[in-house]
Amino acid sequence: MEGLGNNRMESQLVFIVSACLLVSATANGEYLRPQPRKTLNLPWNSVPSSHPQQVHVSLAGDKHMRITWITYDKSAPSIVEYGTEPGKYNFIVGGESISYTYLFYSSGQIHHTVIGPLEYDTVYFYRCGGRGPEFQLKTPPAQFPVTFAVVGDLGQTGWTKTTLDHIDKCKCDVHLLPGDLSYADFMQHLWDTFGELVQPLASARPWMVTEGNHEEEMIPLLKDGFQSYNARWKMPFEESGSSSNLYYSFDVAGVHVIMLGSFADYDAYSDQYSWLKDDLSNVDRKRTPWLVVLFHVPWYNSNHAHQGEGDEMMAAMEPVLYAAGVDLVLAGHVHAYERTTRVYNGISDPCGAVHITVGDGGNREGLAHKYKNPPPEWSVFREASFGHGELRIVNSTHAFWSWHRNDDDESVRSDEVWITSLIDSGCLVKKNDELRKILLEQ
Ligand SMILES: *[C@@H]1O[C@H](CO)[C@@H](O)[C@H](O)[C@H]1NC(C)=O
Ligand SMILES: [Fe+2]
Repeated sequence: MEGLGNNRMESQLVFIVSACLLVSATANGEYLRPQPRKTLNLPWNSVPSSHPQQVHVSLAGDKHMRITWITYDKSAPSIVEYGTEPGKYNFIVGGESISYTYLFYSSGQIHHTVIGPLEYDTVYFYRCGGRGPEFQLKTPPAQFPVTFAVVGDLGQTGWTKTTLDHIDKCKCDVHLLPGDLSYADFMQHLWDTFGELVQPLASARPWMVTEGNHEEEMIPLLKDGFQSYNARWKMPFEESGSSSNLYYSFDVAGVHVIMLGSFADYDAYSDQYSWLKDDLSNVDRKRTPWLVVLFHVPWYNSNHAHQGEGDEMMAAMEPVLYAAGVDLVLAGHVHAYERTTRVYNGISDPCGAVHITVGDGGNREGLAHKYKNPPPEWSVFREASFGHGELRIVNSTHAFWSWHRNDDDESVRSDEVWITSLIDSGCLVKKNDELRKILLEQ
């Protein structure tokens, strides 16, 4: 325990010193882009082995949530007790658990238990595995308004920590993460420290994630790509008719959200593409007027970093998303913020989607500073700073998007815009035949 305490003191000291340096640097001039910070020295495995750790929750079909946690006691049960009053659990459900090994590392027991049916917009108190502390979560509302926090490329540095603090203040209904979570990069215990770091937020609101390149930990002939990610961050792919945890969809309060996989096959003959067509053919814009898509590698990016990396996926999938009338596309990967006009096929188009890159959660690799100049006509706002986005969908036609810069650990709203959905635009009617044609292909 003493060692852990020292580590914590050390990292606090690093915080204070770097904060002082930044303050003195910005006192006499304009905003100075901050340097990356090191991965935090987080304590790990510090509670009894049968106690739940790394608790996070996710949506799992209408009125259901999946509770995920880890115990180091392999025989701990996968039960969740829950109810709407503290300490009073009227319901108890059993789930499943798995573990995995990765070279010399053995994971704890990873428990997944789906609870429900739950009431909308309601606080539930719950306990995992019959022991340990009580947690609480709030279910999303049945109808607008609904709020989303959006951030990619989090990592686990001092910047991550303050970005998470800023997101926590939003009390958003659902958190959307377009990939690159822990930056474990083969170091399996970093998945565990990340799980602990995000638990305060991720145990209280659903965290809906899709994979980034840092989730891929392939060792040729030994390990396929996403073993740790899939084991720990199980998403409702079965509930949405997908055969892979790397892409899925869900409905929440009048919004249909599609999580695509930048690192799963996406060509016209791929499982992902045929699943996407199926999923789009079932979207009912009367029930879910908003259509939002997330994936990791952006298609519209005027930063030099990762330039052109999304082009192939864009060529394969943009036409069907356009025909379906997607309102908003959220991506990460580039460690900066960028927002576009409604755009399609490389030019502004009132019937295209707004693309927003928020790969600025605060990971150890730092920011992507170099932009192409002059900016493309579709690029409205771009800035290489840490931060996060908030999307408040007010009703079937209006949403308020804001980007909150992590400005030397202060949250400062630096970009904001009202976005109107396509449902009243006339675009959807115009595209109907086009969509039907694409959906029927093959
Ligand atoms: C939706 O919200 C916007 C912004 O608050 C408002 O101007 C508009 O009248 C609302 N529309 C409906 C149908 O309530
Ligand atoms: Fe990435």
